[in-house]
Amino acid sequence: MKKMSLLFTFFAALLCFSQQIPYTIIPKPVSIEYQNQQLVLSHKVYLSHSNMSDFEFEFLQKGIESQTKISVQKSNKKKSNITFEPISNPNSKPTDYYEIHINEKKIHIFYTNSSSKLFAIQSLLQIISYTTEDSISIQCGTITDYPTFKWRGMHLDVVRHFFSVDFVKKYIDYLALYKFNTFHWHLTDDQGWRIEIKKYPKLTEIGSQRSGSMIGHYSDQTYDSIPYGGFYTQEQIKEVVAYAKNRQITIVPEIEMPGHALAALAAYPELACEVKPYEVAKSWGVFDDVFCPKEETFTFLENVLNEVLTLFDSEYIHIGGDECPKVRWKNCAHCQSIIQKENLKDEHELQSYFIKRIDDFLTKKGRKIIGWDEILEGGISPNATIMSWRGENGAIEAAKSNHYAVMTPGSHCYFDHYQGNPEIEPIAFGGYTTLEKVYQFQPIPKQVEKSQQQYILGAQANVWTEYISTPEHVEYMIFPRITALSEVVWGTSNPENYTEFIDRLQKHFILIDSKGISPSKAMYDVSISTEIKDGKLYAVLDSYDKSGINYMLNSERKTESEYYTKPIEITENTTIKAAYMKDGIVQTKFVNQLFEPSKTTAQNIRLADEPHPNYNFGGSKTLIDAVSGNPKRFGKNWLGFSGKNADAEITFSKEETLNSIEIGFLKSEGSWIHFPTKVEVFAYINNAFVRIKEVNSDEINQVNGNVKISFPELKTNSIKVIAHCKMKIEEGKAGAGQASWVFIDEIKAF
Ligand code: ACM
Ligand code: ZN
Repeated sequence: MKKMSLLFTFFAALLCFSQQIPYTIIPKPVSIEYQNQQLVLSHKVYLSHSNMSDFEFEFLQKGIESQTKISVQKSNKKKSNITFEPISNPNSKPTDYYEIHINEKKIHIFYTNSSSKLFAIQSLLQIISYTTEDSISIQCGTITDYPTFKWRGMHLDVVRHFFSVDFVKKYIDYLALYKFNTFHWHLTDDQGWRIEIKKYPKLTEIGSQRSGSMIGHYSDQTYDSIPYGGFYTQEQIKEVVAYAKNRQITIVPEIEMPGHALAALAAYPELACEVKPYEVAKSWGVFDDVFCPKEETFTFLENVLNEVLTLFDSEYIHIGGDECPKVRWKNCAHCQSIIQKENLKDEHELQSYFIKRIDDFLTKKGRKIIGWDEILEGGISPNATIMSWRGENGAIEAAKSNHYAVMTPGSHCYFDHYQGNPEIEPIAFGGYTTLEKVYQFQPIPKQVEKSQQQYILGAQANVWTEYISTPEHVEYMIFPRITALSEVVWGTSNPENYTEFIDRLQKHFILIDSKGISPSKAMYDVSISTEIKDGKLYAVLDSYDKSGINYMLNSERKTESEYYTKPIEITENTTIKAAYMKDGIVQTKFVNQLFEPSKTTAQNIRLADEPHPNYNFGGSKTLIDAVSGNPKRFGKNWLGFSGKNADAEITFSKEETLNSIEIGFLKSEGSWIHFPTKVEVFAYINNAFVRIKEVNSDEINQVNGNVKISFPELKTNSIKVIAHCKMKIEEGKAGAGQASWVFIDEIKAF
């Protein structure tokens, strides 16, 4: 008896140790249970057509044949390796529920509806897509799966830059791959009208074309004069809608009103408050000229929407509503007369009146409006759903008043924001939304009470294209962040276990690569920081995968590059150039950091007052770490003091001979950051601090913010620098009358 059980244990152990191949599926399914056996598919799989539409059959067939070396043959049900069966009591299951059962012989798929059937197909294709072998071994197991959120969306702005029907279809393929169900198509804006409206041909004849575009960043205010345009015909729109529908994706079109309307006004100036010629915008941003709420405008918008409704079968129609300046309305006799007649309090209520009329119109047509969170201002329209983009408050307010909301906060859901170090990324709108940040996103705001959580429909990422002009760049901006968001909205993300997600993503990159996509690898970006230990300065390099940090010292000197193993001591002027490398290939962009040590480097420093907590990255050591602040980035390396002097005392480990001090300051008067009014330098001589020199703000280099303060050679153990804050900003400047900020970085002594 004893022997028997030993033998049994031995076999059980063997089975457990047989190599288990976990499924790599994004978004992660709700539940997976593995069995020890494996199903081997080779050369041919037999697929029954029963319970499958032609589209579904071909989708699976093409998927298998394009991603493996296996061919798919149509067969009867009995012979088939993969079968599909409807679940007999779908109402007892969560919405869009499916199961995949894999045993040694067959794959059985059970589904509740056509959405879940396609989700199962997508999961299956991801399971089999990671091998180039002739045969595929698939672990036996059972998947049970269903989504948590109803609105799983991705948006694309085709106005700032136009994207072809082919690319829009590809974009829809990406959404389908990750089980998104909503494509928010941003079709009209100041810079172009991109949807054919038969009743108003000038919308596309005139409104779809602009005479040039912005180049560089908005802050540069420079333009080209290359005509730019494009629009979709109604036939093309129908084709795209049908394409998406087959892939279980609803397209929500956005027709912007009352703001972001310049392209429409260029075509039909009579719809503005002031009737005069308008031009389709070349610049990005927000414009004062908006639709005037006259009867003529409502007739126009209703006619436009009537055509839109024939093209799109979505429950929701997005009517924009964001960023509508009120200056034209304030000065328009007609607008003011409506305010009087309708007994409205102000122009915000006039905006509500505008939206409510459109809401009434679309509600009568059996549709629902959704709009950006500004439509809450002046009172929310009875049937409106809110898209909360300026943080979470729009959604919180909507849910409190029993209105539905979709979460798209700029902090986590704007894929036009930087996903890696802005110093090395392609120019982007701004912000900083890393893959990890997207993965940490929790769609239901904490302030929404349990009884109201049902009003949070889900979440969506927005892809505004001011700085994204090619399909490849769109792909770069959404991959891999779309994978993280898909798991968030599917409801299986685990913010506590980001590494588990990354483990799957690293394997999943094979699938992304196989589709010809070049995703961002910013998640591996090498960061370079400093560490001070025993009076010495070290450069510390970090990456998500430390084993791949590859660096070069002073590349101009052609030193061999090498893999990083430990902090690098910095004793002289040094440039470190680093990137993440895997399999001999550089995966990320190179980051460069210059170190310029001086006699203050790694010495003791004490600040009389703490910097403002928002501008105190790295603390006081920032001033003596041989790294100077970058004027393009307030957030890093600089210390910011608001209405306070920057007052620093540096004590040397031994007596030093000095003849100059160099200090860096930042000036950005629009952000209330001014040069100090004066800078005083003291040295500790004969048991007291003696003032050595004082310079005023004129002596600071206006361009690079540096000031060099020279003095007769002296010996000292300690110096003190006081940069005096401007306590009252001059009239005519931003923040006049308020105290300014002092931004300081790096105090060097020679
Ligand atoms: C928006 O980003 N203006 C909705
Ligand atoms: Zn008006």
